[in-house]
Amino acid sequence: MTELILGLETSCDETAAAVISDGGAILSNVISSQAQIHARYGGVVPEVASRRHLELVEPVVADALEQAGAALEDVSAIGVTQGPGLVGALLVGLSYAKGLSWASGVPLVPVDHLRGHVASLFLGEEPLAPPFLCLLASGGHTLLLVVRDYDSHEVIGGTRDDAAGEAFDKGARLLGLGYPGGPALDRLARTGDATAYRFPIARMEGLDFSFSGVKTALLYAVKDLGDAALAEQRADLAASYERAIVQALLQRIEQAAESMSMETVAVVGGVAANSALRAGLLARGVRVAPLALCTDNGAMIASAARYAPKLLETDYLSIDAYSSR
Ligand code: KG4
Ligand code: ZN
Repeated sequence: MTELILGLETSCDETAAAVISDGGAILSNVISSQAQIHARYGGVVPEVASRRHLELVEPVVADALEQAGAALEDVSAIGVTQGPGLVGALLVGLSYAKGLSWASGVPLVPVDHLRGHVASLFLGEEPLAPPFLCLLASGGHTLLLVVRDYDSHEVIGGTRDDAAGEAFDKGARLLGLGYPGGPALDRLARTGDATAYRFPIARMEGLDFSFSGVKTALLYAVKDLGDAALAEQRADLAASYERAIVQALLQRIEQAAESMSMETVAVVGGVAANSALRAGLLARGVRVAPLALCTDNGAMIASAARYAPKLLETDYLSIDAYSSR
């Protein structure tokens, strides 16, 4: 019989819940983004995020269950993000999930957010099977992972400074595009000339990344231009800046695949939603997470919960959220 898994995600500024089947079919995937609330502050305000999660978590979970045509009693496990992320935000989801488990008797499965992103590849009609090389590029992380099993991975490269998503967000801010920056920069870049400016691509030792150089280069380019010229050049700057980040990611993926002799390569995380990156990946035969599953969502957490230990009553009560590993 098909078992259902509820997934809950509140690590940053998305309150998200989903119901999937144990076979990986997505029955519902509800995401309530707080982006508009945080936009006026130019970034996520942790305390504001926690309070908003508190208001949204109950209706979002109810919506996910209703859209799946399921009741809590029909669910065989409740997966919830334990970390990494904003601790206050994580605690709202984790505490709520504990309460649900306690009230229903359904086991709780604490899920690592990064493993959740990887598990976005294990859903849908054509799920990917390990082993594969995986680039996880989000607002908080840029990691190269060797995924040999459904429930583990090995880190073989990471960023020395900013995450790729952070670089997109900071670049967008320098260009006056507001928050959330990544998607806005993506849209503007489509109308610009990506060869107009030559921004640097860091050459780090091993398989690491660095995005502070390209960010500084953009900062100086913007300063040199002045307001009027900037308005004219904004799309070209966005396209050139995006190209430098995308090239850095593509080059590293190719290098890592070669050095690890991995045939299958995949990309997950919010930055995998970037249209220029997706086009580059497609051209190279690299798998990329479905668009709807790139940025934070509950389905990926439910997916990872299938491969993590279920905790029964009282065992899960002492589980705590963690901000980083
Ligand atoms: O995975 P995610 O939703 O949250 C984290 O776990 O961090 O990733 C969010 C990040 C943000 O930095 C956002 O700007 C970036 O992904 N992002 C994009 C695009 N969509 C989201 N960056 C570039 N182009 C996009 N289309
Ligand atoms: Zn994420």
